[in-house]
Amino acid sequence: MTKQHILLGVSGGIAAFKSASLASLMVKGGYEVQVLMTEHATRFITPLTFQSLTKRAVVVDTFLEPNPAQIAHIQLADDALAYVIAPATANVVAKLAHGFADDMVTTTALAATCPLLIAPAMNVHMLAHPAVAANLRMLEERGAIVLQPAEGLLACGYTGKGRLPEPEDIFAVLQAVLARRQDLLGLKVLVTAGPTIEEIDPVRYITNASTGKMGYAIAAAAAARGAEVVLVSGPVTLAPPEGVKLRAVRSTEDMFVEVEKHFSTADVFVAAAAPADFRPKERLAGKWKKELGTPSIEWVRTPDVLKSMGERRTSHNQTLVGFAAETEDVLANGRRKLTSKHLDLLVVNDIQEEGSGFAVDTNHVTLLKANGDIKDFATMPKTAVADALWDEILAWRHRTR
Ligand code: CTP
Repeated sequence: MTKQHILLGVSGGIAAFKSASLASLMVKGGYEVQVLMTEHATRFITPLTFQSLTKRAVVVDTFLEPNPAQIAHIQLADDALAYVIAPATANVVAKLAHGFADDMVTTTALAATCPLLIAPAMNVHMLAHPAVAANLRMLEERGAIVLQPAEGLLACGYTGKGRLPEPEDIFAVLQAVLARRQDLLGLKVLVTAGPTIEEIDPVRYITNASTGKMGYAIAAAAAARGAEVVLVSGPVTLAPPEGVKLRAVRSTEDMFVEVEKHFSTADVFVAAAAPADFRPKERLAGKWKKELGTPSIEWVRTPDVLKSMGERRTSHNQTLVGFAAETEDVLANGRRKLTSKHLDLLVVNDIQEEGSGFAVDTNHVTLLKANGDIKDFATMPKTAVADALWDEILAWRHRTR
């Protein structure tokens, strides 16, 4: 199997015949296309139709392993640029939402980390059913791109919402998704992530609850979309994202020094780290013994990395993005930080809200812009938040140029 193909999953609905046109558009667009079908789909349209259009054998049976050196669904998923499931029946939507993997279409979907586009098509009442609506919402919240079904005369005789969008429209969304993947090409991006550690003595230190997940997702998304990324990270347990230059640091001072090295050449600086704001004035050379009583520690301020960079931005082409984890007066505090740190954009989140903040995989953020605009996002996985933020950062750069 050659690398970098589009996966087209076809499930068993009458709209399956339209997927042949979609496959044909993909092939004409220059893409390698690998079709996966459910057993039910083969009742509506034959695999031979797709095979003839794509010049590749269609995969239906999960247990058919033509190459003993590979596991088909994993290989197919790993090499995919995008996975389009069209039509997606109510049954397949439910299986995707709940992680079922009992056929090739759904099993491969679980293994795929590429963008997932789902084009549901079904009867108008089925589409409106709370179970189907909830499943589609769940998929969207996990980052899948759900194409809205079109309105019109349905095969069941009803007129209403439920038609598979035209193949040209599905293909246009696919192309937009694929184009987005390289829209940061040529951009130099600097990201900070994670907590920092300030040592009290050789065994004791203070730190905070940051896990680095948001910053790592931002760095990973930027690299995946073509940017040159330097990630200055405090101590975390995450693996460095692919294609990112990692600079591991420990204290806020270390972070400052490392950021300073890369800031002047960065087009975008995203400060997602939670650096410690205070450190003990003196680090004790030996371990403080209990017999000596409670140590009285004098605290001093650490440098504000982001604010310092805001004060020394080299050109208006530099975009500075900060984060603010707040527990009260979220927007007012955020607005103050945006101004005092000389930022273009500030991402605020209420860390006491469920599904937001440290150590969780989702985040609910609000974006404050220097021109006074505010944009609130839905609670999404941090990976989806990262992509949405890059969309906003790009839009901001284009607007202010
Ligand atoms: N930040 C930084 N260096 C610091 C502290 C914060 O670069 N020493 C950055 C963070 O990465 C974040 C932004 O500043 O992008 C806001 O951090 P936050 O801790 O919310 O703000 P503080 O200015 O530290 O304000 P406070 O803790 O008083 O709320």
